[in-house]
Amino acid sequence: MSINIGIHDLSFATTEFVLPHTELAAYNGTEIGKYHLGIGQESMSVPAADEDIVTLGAAAAAPIIARHGSDRIRTVVFATESSIDQAKSAGVYVHSLLGLPSATRVVELKQACYGATAALQFAIGLVRRDPAQQVLVIASDVSKYELDSPGEATQGAAAVAMLVGLDPALVRIEDPSGLFTADVMDFWRPNYRDAALVDGQDSINAYLQAVEGTWKDYTEQGGRSLDEFAAFCYHQPFTKMAYKAHRHLLNYCGYDTDKDDVARAIGQTTAYNTVIGNSYTASVYLGLAALLDQADDLTGRHIGFLSYGSGSVAEFFSGTVVGGYREQLRTEANRAATDRRKPVSYAEYRALHERSFPTDGGDHPTPAQTTGPYRLAGLSGHKRIYQSR
Ligand code: CAA
Repeated sequence: MSINIGIHDLSFATTEFVLPHTELAAYNGTEIGKYHLGIGQESMSVPAADEDIVTLGAAAAAPIIARHGSDRIRTVVFATESSIDQAKSAGVYVHSLLGLPSATRVVELKQACYGATAALQFAIGLVRRDPAQQVLVIASDVSKYELDSPGEATQGAAAVAMLVGLDPALVRIEDPSGLFTADVMDFWRPNYRDAALVDGQDSINAYLQAVEGTWKDYTEQGGRSLDEFAAFCYHQPFTKMAYKAHRHLLNYCGYDTDKDDVARAIGQTTAYNTVIGNSYTASVYLGLAALLDQADDLTGRHIGFLSYGSGSVAEFFSGTVVGGYREQLRTEANRAATDRRKPVSYAEYRALHERSFPTDGGDHPTPAQTTGPYRLAGLSGHKRIYQSR
């Protein structure tokens, strides 16, 4: 059944602080070209001591509630790799901070960087069942690797919130999807670890295998042909990965990989990820925000989405941009979200990276650092305490 459901609104938030890659390079002696050109990253978002996936998620979602209200929202799906509790959904804290109605179902989803796409597809299923309802999807992550590891340069943090509903104002999400799952250990994070474990080159290969797998299934399911797409939003652990993935897809389909064609397909999707870094589940949708904010009129054009989550699960699907979408964009707020960040030195970043709460159940207030609308005030009796401004 073809029904007009998709992304009605999209808003994102990122952190209080930012570490320019020049600082990291000056500390570890890396030639800056490796960061700026080799991996395509200029800077990475660094959470303040009183920021986490909840404060970022709430900050991303608040403008959506302010614009549309919450009357039709009966489900909140919170997707994350960097969960803060083994049992309670981070979405329940966000539900409380935003003052959403008690008649709401809230749940957390996890599959590395793919979780938000699962959330989006599940949301579409719920709206199909009851088109009067809307679903608030929140993708929020803090990407953390070991200090002094190759992954360190590909950290970042951000949250994207999307309102999913009937007759969307931004992008209609279409059937079919191309799906791919393979049990690989390219990137994972055991419950007792803060920082992810990763085999860098293996993870790149696993991602490229998933590009082939999803495209093969997408084609078999009767999807669009490659030249119908105006642009492609890939998961961007670092922005050069989107270029690698697209070249791989073109090769796989027997197309030339002309540099300008690849740049045309990808270039406008990388603006936010280049300065934010890896935001895991949020990354592919930051790509969408950047594309919509920068491209000439995309009305009626098709966008290809490739969502990859290590471990691994991936999905390729298509979205069609809806007429009038430009009036709904949050371009100024999006630019402000990255421009407002305060640069930190390498030493300040390192101190924040090394912070963790004691596990003794005592009272552990956090220093007031963020100027954002929500903050993590501390931990008390093993409970996280949040505040709104
Ligand atoms: N000027 C220009 N380019 C330079 C350069 C210079 N001075 N020095 C090096 N480069 C280039 C290299 O040639 C290389 O380019 P190619 O990939 O095109 O060959 C690029 O810079 C990176 O160099 P290396 O491969 O030597 O870098 P590295 O070994 O330090 O690791 C990394 C890079 C594997 C991405 C590492 O940062 C990492 O492990 N990151 C985390 C894992 C990750 O992001 N994986 C992506 C796929 S998994 C996924 O997508 C899920 C997820 O979110 C984690």
